[in-house]
Amino acid sequence: MANPATIILRFLPILALALTSIATTLPPSIPKPTSLDPHTSKQLLHLHRKLVEIESITHDEKHVGDWLVSYLKDLDYNVEKQEFAPKRFNILAYGKKRETTILVSSHIDTVPPYWPYYYNKTSDIIGGRGSVDAKGSVAAQIIAVQGLRKHLFDDISLLFVVGEEQGGDGMRNFSSWGKRPSPAYDIAIFGEPTEGKLVCGHKGMLGFALKATGKAAHSGYPWLGVSANDILVEALGALLKLREHLPWSEKYGNTTMNFGRIQGGVAANVVAETASANIATRLAAGTPALVTGLIVNALKNIKARAQQQGGDLDIELLSEGYAPVDIDCDIEGFETLTVNYGTDVPLLTGEHKRYLYGPGSIFVAHSDHEALKRSELEDAVLDYRRLIIKASEMRMKERQMLVEQGEL
Ligand SMILES: *[C@@H]1O[C@H](CO)[C@@H](O)[C@H](O)[C@H]1NC(C)=O
Ligand SMILES: *[C@@H]1O[C@H](CO)[C@@H](O)[C@H](O)[C@H]1NC(C)=O
Ligand SMILES: *[C@@H]1O[C@H](CO)[C@@H](O)[C@H](O)[C@H]1NC(C)=O
Ligand SMILES: [Zn+2]
Repeated sequence: MANPATIILRFLPILALALTSIATTLPPSIPKPTSLDPHTSKQLLHLHRKLVEIESITHDEKHVGDWLVSYLKDLDYNVEKQEFAPKRFNILAYGKKRETTILVSSHIDTVPPYWPYYYNKTSDIIGGRGSVDAKGSVAAQIIAVQGLRKHLFDDISLLFVVGEEQGGDGMRNFSSWGKRPSPAYDIAIFGEPTEGKLVCGHKGMLGFALKATGKAAHSGYPWLGVSANDILVEALGALLKLREHLPWSEKYGNTTMNFGRIQGGVAANVVAETASANIATRLAAGTPALVTGLIVNALKNIKARAQQQGGDLDIELLSEGYAPVDIDCDIEGFETLTVNYGTDVPLLTGEHKRYLYGPGSIFVAHSDHEALKRSELEDAVLDYRRLIIKASEMRMKERQMLVEQGEL
């Protein structure tokens, strides 16, 4: 891999030209350390500990948000709170300029339940709720950007949103914010646990509920009623078969369908009046509309029969859903992978390069043993810097090509 300093020298003429079209230049002096100095490392661990120690389960993010606002102000950022619901706000921080080329973002909410912070010095493992998802990313991003600012690279905003773990209302509200900085960002870097690799994309999502309705009766005289449970069980059976024939792709593998929650009826001796199932489908190909069509089709006979008997079967979408999300991962020197979880990446509207990277593994993220190695956290700081520098260099090259082709 080339040293950033040599790359920057090589592109100095381009840089000079690009000056007219973009406000950003990388100063040709950003060093490339291979490990964090002890002071920075201490700062990183302290920040990470503070963030994890403050409980911030989705909808209850105010305390960690307030703490983070004052931390960023102490680092001399301009900090804005976008309060979009009572006690719920996103945090936008930037240096001198509000409009920046680069946005670095992650989320400050966590899943329940809360697990306290710990640091095992023997194993060098740091754990607790959020230590991986995503406060490891938040801490590493702040320290990484802080290091770049020291070298006068002030073209980066930080955005920390709430609500990522429950449908992304934080990022949705940022996207539709009337005061959102404009023009939009050229590069957005998202932090989620990716094992220190660059993510080339993640599966899409279609969440829906099956709702069966019947007619209650004494279980001794079931012909007097219509069993919602029977209807639902039949429907689930059809979906089990459909599951084998959902769209797949080389890149993302098979579409999966999880029957996450099933409920029905009130007692063994009563014919069930209602029954429902909540189902999450992770799309490896196709669109939510296409897969919804397949589901409707697979259930249409069961629905017709239920209606003939005086019952019914309905499909309710739990949210809009989205197709698989392709993400940029064209940066040399990073390992890459695809993942099966959803992120805020598709929820930030606009035309921008987007990258997804973060310390720690998703396999422990929502568990009671959420933890990561101190070295993963430290490596993430260096990787975020590398990612930011390389992504902006590529961006400059692209702009330059457009200038040469007379398109800018
Ligand atoms: C810390 O890690 C070491 C080595 O893995 C382990 O033996 C020890 O039990 C851990 N300490 C605590 C308090 O969990
Ligand atoms: C903003 O957040 C609120 C509260 O969660 C939600 O009701 C609303 O739909 C969100 N707005 C957008 C544009 O998603
Ligand atoms: C996808 O499903 C097929 C059969 O339905 C199975 O043979 C294959 O191993 C699955 N692929 C992956 C990557 O899980
Ligand atoms: Zn997350």
